[in-house]
Amino acid sequence: MVVILGLEGTAWNLSAALVTDDRVIYETESAYKPAHGGIHPREAAQHHASELKRVVSEVIEGAKEKGFSISDIDGVAFSQGPGMGPCLRTVATAARALALTLKKPLIGVNHCIAHIEIGRWRCGVRDPVVLYVSGANSQVLTYYAGRYRILGETLDIGIGNALDKFARYMGLSHPGGPKIEELASRAREYIHLPYVVKGMDFSFSGLTTAAKDALDAGHDREAVCYSFQETAFAMLTEVTERAMAYCGKEELLLAGGVGANRRLQQMLRTMCHDRGARFSVPEARYLRDNGAMIAYLGLLQFKSGQTIELRESAVKPNFRPDEVEVVWRGINN
Ligand code: ATP
Ligand code: FE2
Repeated sequence: MVVILGLEGTAWNLSAALVTDDRVIYETESAYKPAHGGIHPREAAQHHASELKRVVSEVIEGAKEKGFSISDIDGVAFSQGPGMGPCLRTVATAARALALTLKKPLIGVNHCIAHIEIGRWRCGVRDPVVLYVSGANSQVLTYYAGRYRILGETLDIGIGNALDKFARYMGLSHPGGPKIEELASRAREYIHLPYVVKGMDFSFSGLTTAAKDALDAGHDREAVCYSFQETAFAMLTEVTERAMAYCGKEELLLAGGVGANRRLQQMLRTMCHDRGARFSVPEARYLRDNGAMIAYLGLLQFKSGQTIELRESAVKPNFRPDEVEVVWRGINN
């Protein structure tokens, strides 16, 4: 049995978890909520710094009640990137200190791949095309010859950031995605907005500007939110379907915080149903940023010997998933 402590803190959520081969032993989190505006990297990092002691202690105490002690920990995993520099550095410093104190190896985890692997684990999915949609990232990926390959991605901002920006323009607080979903559910009028798919890539920046213009032109919020979602999610669904067709894959896995959106889930489910493919989405707590996904991918990497030395533990704010050699496939699945 292997036990890994995982730390996540790339952006808004500081979270720690203890995971073993077949379950999450204990997880705890502390969300940073900006007083106004979007996520401020230094403020978020400050939040993480002041909450780290409590979050880590809570996991250790919680695990004790379940019969695990600190001496059972085999390795310390942390999000090495991508993410906000100050947040990454704060959490990496804590991970290094813990690994040194416990005299256990350090495991550097790619945050995007952690979103994928926790979904594959929770849903029992084998070899999917993945639609990974969060604040900063929007990508369509699949595994091929030792790496997760990016088949399509946003040319500018992530869909989550686009939704958050538009919500902020309407005076709504962060995060805006769930509020837009709620407003959209009350409308049925579609307003034309730019649909931008270029090859296998998509763009959300022009769409966000056009949605703001539509509001300024007097359209009601509900209709604009509805049209924003319909347009953006149709773009994502189109590219995802093409990826499945090109790769001949029959499973789709949805990952990342925006994956909680029911309209997006519905569009993807319909697309999969029409092609006779299987659609999977994990519980909401494993869609958004969470410590369990970092501990879990850390566990897979640990078992395949992919640990790092202190000198290799610098954070990577622009860490892309296709930089990682996937050495663990075939271990747990
Ligand atoms: P990453 O580093 O992977 O980009 P992240 O820091 O953006 O992650 P996540 O928790 O994966 O964090 O995603 C947060 C995003 O999800 C926010 O932009 C938020 O508005 C969006 N979101 C959450 N719930 C919904 C929803 N129901 N509909 C649309 N968007 C949502
Ligand atoms: Fe994330």
